[in-house]
Order: sequence, then C-alpha cells, then structure tokens
Amino acid sequence: MKFFVDTAEIDQIKELNDLGMVDGVTTNPTLIAKSGRDIIEVTKEICSIVSGPVSAEVTALKADEMIAEGRKLAKIAPNIAVKVPLTWDGLKACKTLTDEGTMVNVTLCFSANQALLAAKAGATFISPFIGRLDDINLDGLDLIADIRQIYDNYGFETQILAASIRSVNHMSECAKIGADVATAPASVIKSMANHVLTDKGLQGFLADIQKAGIKIL
Ligand code: E4P
Repeated sequence: MKFFVDTAEIDQIKELNDLGMVDGVTTNPTLIAKSGRDIIEVTKEICSIVSGPVSAEVTALKADEMIAEGRKLAKIAPNIAVKVPLTWDGLKACKTLTDEGTMVNVTLCFSANQALLAAKAGATFISPFIGRLDDINLDGLDLIADIRQIYDNYGFETQILAASIRSVNHMSECAKIGADVATAPASVIKSMANHVLTDKGLQGFLADIQKAGIKIL
C-alpha cells in the first residue's frame, strides 16, 4: 500500500519523505488554509520535494470552471493530481482532465455508487472518506471493502485512495482490504511505530544494559 501524507506543512512532508515513507501528498482547501500560504506557491514547493502524485483541489463548483482551475493547477508540475469533488460537474471535469492526460483525484466519496461513477469517468484516484463516515456511525472501512470488490470485479484501474484516516487501525485495516493508497496526517503515520510492548521491552533492556555495564562504542 502506498502512503500519501495528508498535509500542506512542508516540515512534516520533508521529514517523512527523507525516510522514504511518502509516496505522494494530498491537500484540500482546509489544509491549504491551515498552512496560511498561497495555494500555487505551497503546492509548487511540495511538488519540488515529493516525486509522487501531489493532489491539489479545485475551488469551483461548475465543470467548466473546475476544468480551467485544473488546467492551471496541472501546469504547476508534472506530478500534480487535480482534485475534484464527487458531483456530476466534478465527474465531467474528471473526464475532460483525464482525457488531457492529467491525473485526477475524485474526492468526497461516500458511497460505492459514487466510486463506480468516478471509475467510469476515468479517475486516477477515488478518495473514500473513512473517518467522516465513522463520525456518523457508519463503517468507513466497509466502503473501502465494497469499492475494492467492485473495482476488482470489472478490472477498473482507478486507484482506491483511502482518505479521512484518523487512526493507526484505519491504516492496517486498509492494507488488509487492499486499498491502493492511504492518505493520513503525519501524526498517524508516525504513530504506526508505537507499541506499548516495544516501550516495555526497551525499558527492560535498558535496565539490564545499566546493570551489566554493556557498552558498544
Ligand atoms: C484527503 O484527501 C482528504 O481531504 C482528507 O483525508 C480529509 O480528512 P478529514 O476528514 O480528517 O478532514
């Protein structure tokens, strides 16, 4: 499973990218607003750090305006994936932009039917939002499994980009289901290294190192 980091914070992207933990980046208007930077400028900087797909989201609601914005975003760098919302207009924009050779990430997906339409429109990525479904007492992971089954049934090449990830459990469950990509905040990716038994085991080893005076350097 590929890891995308869901942020527009340069320091976080650099840290994970240096460790080989980042296969791409996703941003959205909320994350851009949080960075306090101009969307074109910050997206350009992210694309200069990460060689994989960098999602930048359109702001318009009408297809023709989304297409114009998408064309401008696509000019930033060859690894831009234009993010469009899963609306009828978004699907139109997806079709036009993918036909032009631009990667498109269709976002705000909350149902298997929406994912089916995005695949038919040629989306490079479909972004089902796990956490926001969990927030309303639905099971976001069930949606990932349903989309995996549907795409495999018909050989759709659209990649499932599991989004709105809130926990390390979401990450491992997405990997078990077979999501192609998971996008998560840097804090979630880093938390995957944590285990209470690792901490406990380390404490025991440290006590024995001190007791026995073990030295390597
Ligand atoms: C990524 O593409 C999405 O915009 C993001 O994962 C949404 O996450 P949230 O539901 O935590 O805002």
